[in-house]
Amino acid sequence: MNTTTTTTRGDLFQKCHEFTEATEARSQGLYPYFRPIEGFSGARIISEGRELIMAGSNNYLGLSLDPRVREAAIDAVKVYGASCSGSRFMNGTLKLHEELEQRLAAFVGKPAALCFTTGYQTNLGAISALVGRGEHIITDKLNHASIMDGIFMALGMTRQIQVHRYKHNNIEQLEQILQSLPADEPKLLVTDGVFSMEGDIARLPQMRELADRYGVRIYLDEAHAIGVIGATGRGTVEHHDGAAMADLVMCTFSKSFGSIGGFVAGDEAVVDFIKHFARPLIFSASMPPSNLAAVMKSLEIIENEPERVSRLQQIAARMRRGFTELGFDIGTSETAVIPLIIGDNQKTFLFWKYLYENGVYVNPVVSPAVPPNRALIRTSYMAIHEDSDLDRVLEVSAAGGKAAGIL
Ligand SMILES: Cc1ncc(COP(=O)(O)O)c(C=O)c1O
Repeated sequence: MNTTTTTTRGDLFQKCHEFTEATEARSQGLYPYFRPIEGFSGARIISEGRELIMAGSNNYLGLSLDPRVREAAIDAVKVYGASCSGSRFMNGTLKLHEELEQRLAAFVGKPAALCFTTGYQTNLGAISALVGRGEHIITDKLNHASIMDGIFMALGMTRQIQVHRYKHNNIEQLEQILQSLPADEPKLLVTDGVFSMEGDIARLPQMRELADRYGVRIYLDEAHAIGVIGATGRGTVEHHDGAAMADLVMCTFSKSFGSIGGFVAGDEAVVDFIKHFARPLIFSASMPPSNLAAVMKSLEIIENEPERVSRLQQIAARMRRGFTELGFDIGTSETAVIPLIIGDNQKTFLFWKYLYENGVYVNPVVSPAVPPNRALIRTSYMAIHEDSDLDRVLEVSAAGGKAAGIL
């Protein structure tokens, strides 16, 4: 191997050798990232040879491990092979893509849908295709990074876009922004349905009211909402009793759908436009057969087994109550994403370490993924958790909270 470790001034790699934070954290046993998982058994994982309760997965309905979903993925590989080897635009569209799109569109109540290879690419592609010169994007400050990157991509394609960020879920500030914008300039309001770190829910009815008043289109990211909220898991619109719709709905397949990929759904003309202008769709290979078949099966299960959604909601309510009673700050969480807000990075990593060593897997999140001084432990739950798992998570958290000086 030919690698150079000594660098000189002006060498591009110098900054890499000067980046030592990760190495230092590793040497103190306080580095939580990129931990390999060696196996899965229900809501438990094996990591470093030990069994841990998984309380940090987005596999909300447990479907990535469901035997029917696994089987569907295997069967699709047998029939169609392991890859489509090309983009949707050229040689990578299977009949399966189109069938799935029709079923997803029906599921979210829209005329058309379009699948991308990841959820991340869906936001990049749809947002950058839709918003161009002389147009406006209005975005919640806590929207997911992929939305922000979609905006960056749109900006990279034409610098003439105006971006307006409002305080998290703050309808008053959103209205002030909308009031200040010229009525005749096109606008897209983008929001997470369920916010990925805080676990709270977008105020869609109020947003819809403003959007109609000010002539704005709404783009709703349902990554953490579908399968999680609403009586049958149809997400934010259903959670608000169908009182308000978004113009475009996107979702990833890496969470409740137990696979990987994403889709955006809306009116036919809009989806067709995205199809022809989304660079991440046109210049990247399409979703492979195994993932398509897994999503198709998961969708069928979500439609036919709403009891999974209710079980998840019951678990989430129990954990929110449990953490609050123990004295943790869970912010404004209303869902299966429950942050334990700590603030201080060092205490957050110490708490994480205690949980990890005592058999509970969670995710520590620090700036820039959350605002500075809002470091947190992101916990999240699955319909396949057993009550005894949940009791254990609360028990270890109580002890760890005391040990790390949080409680
Ligand atoms: C709100 C939100 N949107 C989009 C994405 C991107 O989806 P994926 O990871 O499936 O590419 C995520 C992923 O975490 C997310 O949380």
